Amino acid sequence: MPVYLGVDIGTSGTKTLAMREDGEILGSSTAEYPLSNPKPGWSEQSPADWWQAVVDSVKKVLRVAKLKSADIGGIGLSGQMHGSVFLDRRHQVIRPALLWNDQRTVAECAEIESRAGGRAELIRMVANPALTGFTAPKILWLRNQEKRNFDRTVQVLLPKDYVRFCLTGEFATEVSDASGTLLLDVVNRCWSTELLQKLDLSGSLLPRVYESEDVTGVLTESAAKQMGLRAGIPVVGGGGDQAASAIGNGIVGRGVVSATMGTSGVVFAHSDEVQVDPQGRLHTFCHAVRGKWHVMGCVLSAGGSLQWFRNQLCHAEVLLAKKQKIDPYELITSEAAAAPAGSEGLFFLPYLTGERTPHADPHARGSWIGLSLRHGRSHLARSVMEGATYAMRDSLEIARGMNIPVQEIRLSGGGARSPFWRQMQADIYGQQVVTINASEGPAYGVALLAAAGTGAYKSVEEACRATISVVTRTKPKAAALKTYNAAFPVYQQLYRSLKADFAAIQGLLR
Ligand code: XUL
Repeated sequence: MPVYLGVDIGTSGTKTLAMREDGEILGSSTAEYPLSNPKPGWSEQSPADWWQAVVDSVKKVLRVAKLKSADIGGIGLSGQMHGSVFLDRRHQVIRPALLWNDQRTVAECAEIESRAGGRAELIRMVANPALTGFTAPKILWLRNQEKRNFDRTVQVLLPKDYVRFCLTGEFATEVSDASGTLLLDVVNRCWSTELLQKLDLSGSLLPRVYESEDVTGVLTESAAKQMGLRAGIPVVGGGGDQAASAIGNGIVGRGVVSATMGTSGVVFAHSDEVQVDPQGRLHTFCHAVRGKWHVMGCVLSAGGSLQWFRNQLCHAEVLLAKKQKIDPYELITSEAAAAPAGSEGLFFLPYLTGERTPHADPHARGSWIGLSLRHGRSHLARSVMEGATYAMRDSLEIARGMNIPVQEIRLSGGGARSPFWRQMQADIYGQQVVTINASEGPAYGVALLAAAGTGAYKSVEEACRATISVVTRTKPKAAALKTYNAAFPVYQQLYRSLKADFAAIQGLLR
């Protein structure tokens, strides 16, 4: 049976996974690399580090899973979205890549909106408003701030597509990742020549766009040699990490939605048609399923809020967990479970790194509101988990308001592992939540795309049906549901009440 490699070029490391055609995972390996923040708000990485990590993790997977080159039927690529790799005419990297979480492009976002003829016009052309993390503002930043580097640039690639270039020698991308550049005509699944013209950018800077399961090239002799593989192995389009992760969660049909509570939190809904939030709060991107789309909300610090709580306020739990050889989150969640639903009027706003959905506001701040003498550590812990979950519900509510059916919510990420947090999610989302057998994220999704794209399955949907199944179901409990339904509007109002104060706080720091 052939084996497919799924490679995910993440922000902290690259994970490579080997999946047998029937979905069985034979092994995986992760190679890490650093992130650099040369100035406040800047976030960069070296593309050479990604390539080295791909080579190392592929070699390791072949070793641990005892695979031979002849076993490999195809490779799928996934990665952090929105990043920009600038190449010169000799195809050398010009400067470190700007990443998805880089915030330096506030002025360029305004420039794009104005050149496009306003926010509504921009949304008409590319289905999304300009956000600092997206790729187009980064290209304009290079033109505005590093003109000499811009003049040398002949090609701009997304992170996984730079790796594709190293693997195959081809300049190519696919629709799901290309959607996050802000330069794709998301409706017609091709570059927006209209917006490129308005931004005075040449289309020749951008690679060819494929559907995600299409073969975009084959492994070259030199790449194959570095990794211990044979030349000629097909490399399929793959997907941006969110679309790829959705494939790995089987989000390939109407009504199936995922809620992934990782460091960031993502609500992802499949859509048969292009559906755009006129206010631009949810992203509308092409899905990695041929001819389909998705909407997505991104909470910047979801699980990240609990991670902050653990790091800053749970030293005793971390030490005890180490002694007992358990995960500190087990102790923190059992402490949280001692407080009642709604944390007796204590709210936590999870905007520790600003926010993206539904408030695109880099100045928003994390806050506890409603503290009283009654509140203790268990309330603090519970309110952090509740705040992160309310933030996810914000995205679900926008999707519901756009008439996107939410029939089944599939949980993944750290928030899916804890039965307590699963119950809280059912209670706050107001409907049953499920978990599935696969938990390997984007690397698994693109291994499935590689299998489908090289003919092992008739379609991505068929690959998902054959390999993914529901393993747990959690229904909301009536009393908690009632408490949370009453508390949610208060949570939503708190940001509106504090928005101006957050901006004033930012003013103090200048
Ligand atoms: C998606 C997004 C992140 C990055 C990094 O819009 O910004 O998921 O892709 O993981």
